[in-house]
This record gives sequence, structure tokens and C-alpha cells, in this order.
Amino acid sequence: MVAELDPIFKRLEAKKAELADRPLRKLFAEDAGRFDRFSVHLDDLLLDFSKNRLDADAFALLIELAKAAGVAERRDAMFAGAVINTTEKRSVLHTALRNRSNTPVIVDGKDVMPDVNEVLGRVRDFAEGVRSGKIASSTGAKFTDVVNIGIGGSDLGPAMATIALTPYRGNGPRLHYVSNVDGAHISDTLAELDPKTTLFVVASKTFTTSETMTNAGTARAWIKEHLGEAAVGAHFCAVSTALDKVAAFGMDVSRAFGFWDWVGGRYSVWSAIGLPVAIAVGFDNFVAFLSGAHEVDNHFRSAPLDKNIPVILGLLGVWYRNVWGFSTHAVLPYDQRLSRFAAYLQQLDMESNGKGVRTDGTPVPRASGPIVWGEPGTNGQHAFYQLIHQGTDIIPADFLAAAVPHEQVGDHHAKLLSNVLAQTEALMLGKTVEEAAAELKKAGKSDADIAALAPHKAFPGNRPTNTILYRTLDPRTLGRLIAIYEHKVFVQGTIWGVNSYDQWGVELGKELANRLLPVLKGEAEPAANQDASTKGLVAAIKGLQKA
Ligand code: F6P
Repeated sequence: MVAELDPIFKRLEAKKAELADRPLRKLFAEDAGRFDRFSVHLDDLLLDFSKNRLDADAFALLIELAKAAGVAERRDAMFAGAVINTTEKRSVLHTALRNRSNTPVIVDGKDVMPDVNEVLGRVRDFAEGVRSGKIASSTGAKFTDVVNIGIGGSDLGPAMATIALTPYRGNGPRLHYVSNVDGAHISDTLAELDPKTTLFVVASKTFTTSETMTNAGTARAWIKEHLGEAAVGAHFCAVSTALDKVAAFGMDVSRAFGFWDWVGGRYSVWSAIGLPVAIAVGFDNFVAFLSGAHEVDNHFRSAPLDKNIPVILGLLGVWYRNVWGFSTHAVLPYDQRLSRFAAYLQQLDMESNGKGVRTDGTPVPRASGPIVWGEPGTNGQHAFYQLIHQGTDIIPADFLAAAVPHEQVGDHHAKLLSNVLAQTEALMLGKTVEEAAAELKKAGKSDADIAALAPHKAFPGNRPTNTILYRTLDPRTLGRLIAIYEHKVFVQGTIWGVNSYDQWGVELGKELANRLLPVLKGEAEPAANQDASTKGLVAAIKGLQKA
């Protein structure tokens, strides 16, 4: 498949050369219809991709690339339950978890929807029970605080969504997320809490992850210490695909919520892994979140490729990564409650497409997944935007913003929106040396000062951005945003020929940590063939610990 794409990539290279002397400001000047041509609506959600290094021919070539890579066929195969996670021999069906149409989804000859709906019903009962106080602590008190213990996909999605949906909390309990095995994380969290009114959700797809099991053990000991062993059951529940391991851990299986191996960890917020979100904002809002994602699934499946938001975003990413050689992609929400969105997307994108071999085990012949990063605006403007505007690297970026805020606080929102629009305009237009010089002259600067300062005050411009605008950050919109990025990752993984649904790259570090643990606990010496650096560091740690 990848070889067949070479001729299209060659034509894209030629197109790039042609665009070299047609910067964005020129493209906008040439074409009054550019915004309409390069924007797509999905109800109230708008993708403006007009500020990209693109003309109609380049866009058509990118669409050709998607066709040649078989994006539509592989998409349909994924939705139909084909085993596209080939290294783990699994279907990839997070879409079934939010299949609000309830049409059958067949895995191994069996419709998975009844099981999906059964767990969802249990999530509803439990979440609403905790919110109402019907499901109470061992003392009979209402839970005031819920601590999710999980890491990676069992943490980032629910943690991000909980912050994003803060306005929907009502009188629900406070949510906390403990992920790091650094004891500081759980210590600082527990220090604020009352064991009598604290519920723990232990979330782990495999129920073997060292960080999560360690934190769960510490939480268990904390409840036992304060309330006694008999209280433990009332203060814990679990989410996992490995219900046998949940039972072996000593947890009440009636308080265990299952999901399935066809749900990847970083795609699992739609499953019972979303239980803390349902507790935080109530089940109806959780369903609205699922429905938003389902809408995007329908859009992804049915919209023509050139009007298909995830396809367009995926293709633009490939264009910049493979043809222009840009290695990072920034996600910059002008929406403070999306403060963890970039961190969430890092796992989604980098764990999915950070691969060096194709599904057939041969090397990926061109660059694959970019480095994804970002922070909310306007904060980032006062930190790293300097580099985005004038640095030597070009960083394509997505800007996200809501037209309508939850809080009407003075003119805050007008100021926020003026900033998001100004940034993408500045990145697109830039400012020439001549324009900078003219401004300096107008400000009364001497010729010498103008000559010295103008190069510093000029902006190269021609820096590509997308803007994703939506009415309000509500549960439906959050669901839509996440699903858009999930499918974008799918599109790119398909073009690069990688398996976006495994993550073998995280294993070696885990293995070596297990080998080093007895050494650090003083139960073993470093192996004779241990490298000198690690040995030296172990010795230094021990020295510092003795001192
Ligand atoms: O180590 C990476 C990883 O396997 C992620 O893919 C996953 O989301 C995370 O660890 C947590 O895994 P689990 O849910 O099985 O505890």
C-alpha cells in the first residue's frame, strides 16, 4: 500500500515547491472565496482550515492520497469489527461504546451491543447512586469525594473530561485523579480527604499496571487504617477488562465494571472507564458525551472525504509531517477547561502513531506520528508563542474556541476570542521587514534604530493553523472533539501503514524497571552485565540515601 502512495507523495512534493512563493497572505489575496472553500460545518461546530499552505490542487491531491491509502475501506472495516489491531489480533470498536443507534456490532459472530448496554446500565445506577447518596460509605454518609486510581488511558480521558465539564457537576462529589507511582501524588490527594466520605475507583484495563496496583494498595491500607478492614468493600469499586484479577485483588465483583479487549486503553473513556465522569456530571450528561462522539462517527462514515473533518485534519497532518518536514503539532485551546486536552491527545496520538514499522513489520518509509503538545491560550501566548511566531521551526497548530462561554464575566470572553482570532491572523499574515520599518518610522525612530530593529520586529508569517469553533463546551461537544481527533489518528495511521492500536514501545521500560526494583530496594545487586551508567546512578542513589 505504502509503495503505491509514492507517486502521490512525489506530486505533493512538486506542489510544495510551487507553493513556496505563494505564502498564505498571497493565497488569501488571490481568492475571496478561500474561507468558504476551506471550511466545514458539523452543525454548530466549524473547522476553518483556510489558513493552511494549501490551494485547490494541493487539497485535491491530498484527497487522492486518502483514496489511494484506502482510508474509507479501512474505516468501514474498523466499524464492522474487522481485526485491524493485527499484532494483538483484536477488533477496534470503541465506536460501539457510543453507538447510540444501537444497531448490532458483531465481534466473533456475536452482537456486542447487549453487553455494552448492560454495563452502561450498571454505570448509570452506580453513578446516580453515588450522586444521590443511595450508594453510601461504610458509615452511611454520602460520598463527598471520589478518587480515580488509574494511569494512561485509565486516567487521562476521565481526568480531562472532568475538568472540561466542570459546569455540569451540580451537587455531585468532587473528583480526584491519582496516577503517578510517586507517593507524593497519593499522599497529597489523601491529605485533603476524609476516609469516611471517600470512594475509590480503581481503573485499569489489565489490572496489572504497577502504578495503579501500588496506589490501590496504598488507598486500601488508608481505608483499613481509618475505618477497619470491614469497611474496605464499601469504599472501592473497579473498572477493568480483567474481572478475575479484580476478584483476586479482593474487590467485590458486584462493584466491578467490565469492558472488552476491543477497546484500546487510550480509546476507553467511552467505556466504564468513564464511570468517574458519569459520577462527576451525572449519567444524562455522560450519555450526551457519548452521543456527541456518535455524531462524529456518523459524519466520519458518511461525509465525502473532502468535507470530512477527521479526514481533512489527518491529511493536513500528513502534508506537514511528510512533505514539509514539520515534526510537531500544537493543540491550543482557548478554553481553560480544556487544560488537559493536549495531554490527553498526546497519549491518543503519540501512543497510537509513534511507530517505526508498518503492520507487516517493515520499516515505515517516511516520518510517522508527530510530537503533539500544547497548553491553553491565552497562557501560552506569554510563554512559548514567541517560538511559534518567529522561531526557526514551523509548528502547525489547532486553535479551539467556544463562541459562548458558560460564565458571562464582564468582557472576558470577547477578550479571549479577540486573542484566538488575532493569533491565527498574525501567524498567517506575519509582518514584513518593510512593514515593521514603516511602523518604526511612524513612531519617530531614527534611521539607525529602524535598521537595527526592523528585522527583530518582522514576522515571517505563512504559519499554518486550523481553527475549531463550537458554540459551547458542553458534553456533546467534548464528545465530538475527542472523536474527531480519534478518527484523525486513524486516518494518519492508515496512510502511514502502522497499527495505531498497539503500544509495544512502552514495554521495555516496564521490563527494566521490574529488574531494577529489587536492586533499589536493597534486595539484590545490579546484574554483572548492567551498564556502567545505570550502576553508577544506583550507587549515587544509595550514597545519597545513606547520607
Ligand atoms: O503503559 C501504557 C499503557 O498500557 C497504556 O496503553 C494504558 O492506557 C495504560 O498503560 C494503563 O493501562 P491499564 O489500563 O491496563 O492499567
